Parts: sequence; C-alpha cells; structure tokens
Amino acid sequence: MEKIIYILILIILENNNFYENIKTIYEPTSYDFLVNKNIKLTSSYIPKDLELISSEFSCNNKYLRRDAKNAFENMAKDAKKNGYTIIAVSTYRSYEYQEKLYNNYVKEKGFYYADMASARAGHSEHQTGLAVDVSNSSLDYDNFENTKEFNWMKKNAYKYGFILRYPKAKFHITGFKYEPWHYRYVGINTAKYIYHNNITLEEYKKNT
Ligand code: DAL
Ligand code: ZN
Repeated sequence: MEKIIYILILIILENNNFYENIKTIYEPTSYDFLVNKNIKLTSSYIPKDLELISSEFSCNNKYLRRDAKNAFENMAKDAKKNGYTIIAVSTYRSYEYQEKLYNNYVKEKGFYYADMASARAGHSEHQTGLAVDVSNSSLDYDNFENTKEFNWMKKNAYKYGFILRYPKAKFHITGFKYEPWHYRYVGINTAKYIYHNNITLEEYKKNT
C-alpha cells in the first residue's frame, strides 16, 4: 500500500508543473498572497515588521510579522483559557536558513521526499513571516495531529486569520504532504472563506 502511495506521489510531482514557469514576488502588498512551488520570494526579501512572539507561546525567540504575531498571541491566549497549549516552534525563516533545511532533507531523505516535505529556498511560506509551525507542550510537531490542541486549531484557527495550509488530500494542488502543524496567516476574512469552503489558498486565489 505504502509503495502505491509513493508511486502516486511521484507521478503527481512529475505532472503538476511544480517548479516550472516560476513567478517572483518582490514586495508583498496583502496578507493573502501566494508563495508556493510556482511563486517565489527574492533571496533578499526580509519582512520589515517582524516582531518577537511572547516566550509564553513560543520557544527560543520566534518572529512573525506584526499582525500575524498579534493574531497568533490572541489565539494562543484563548486556547490557554480553554486548557490548550499552543506553542510556535518554527516561524520566520530566512532564505539562507531554508536553503540549508532543504539541502539537509535531500541529503538525509532523498530528492523526492525533500520536495514533498520541504520548500526550496525562496518558495517557503516561512520566509514571508506569516507562517507558523505549532506544537503542544511536547514541542513535538510531528505528533501534533494526535493532540487535543490540533482538534482545537482545526476548529478555531480561522477565527484569528490562520488557515491549515497543507491539508490532507490536497497534495496535487499545494505540492506538499499533509502538515497538521503548519498554519498561514491570511487575515480573518480570507481565512473564514477558505475554512467554510474547504479550499486551499491556491484555489482561493484562482477564483478571486
Ligand atoms: N514545510 C514547508 C512546506 C516549508 O518548507 O515551507
Ligand atoms: Zn511550516
């Protein structure tokens, strides 16, 4: 079974024009812009309004853009009031850092797995300063899917402007495997629309 899934993934990766006809964004002007396998940021892009997330809701000095950071802290505060611990474990990542991460994946797991799990430099939402990988108090984001915090995030993240960016069974559209831990700030109105229509950011941008 696993082998069949792997072959299907290879076919999708080969046939979806990922990393072809790439467009470049120089300076994003909204919160709902796309960065994906066909749209990249420049190597010099660093958001100007990065702010440090409260240490109560993050580990080891993590930064997001101002509005995303405020929204994240509000979300984590409300979660805490209800007994859930949401911690930011990876947020803004520089172009150079992403390059190292991706290259490590290739070295450790091979090219195809790397492309399923990690964005190439310039193509990661983490460079936007609007993406956050979360975990519960275990700080083990790989296991986030099996936590009560994931259940809470699934139902509530959109109310604060965040979407689950790489949902299950949308691999052929997003180009990335299911990531229960990765949320993208797009603003409340866009997040509500995407949530209620059960679509990806790619589908939303195509139709608006
Ligand atoms: N893991 C996500 C896709 C990234 O590398 O940005
Ligand atoms: Zn992520």
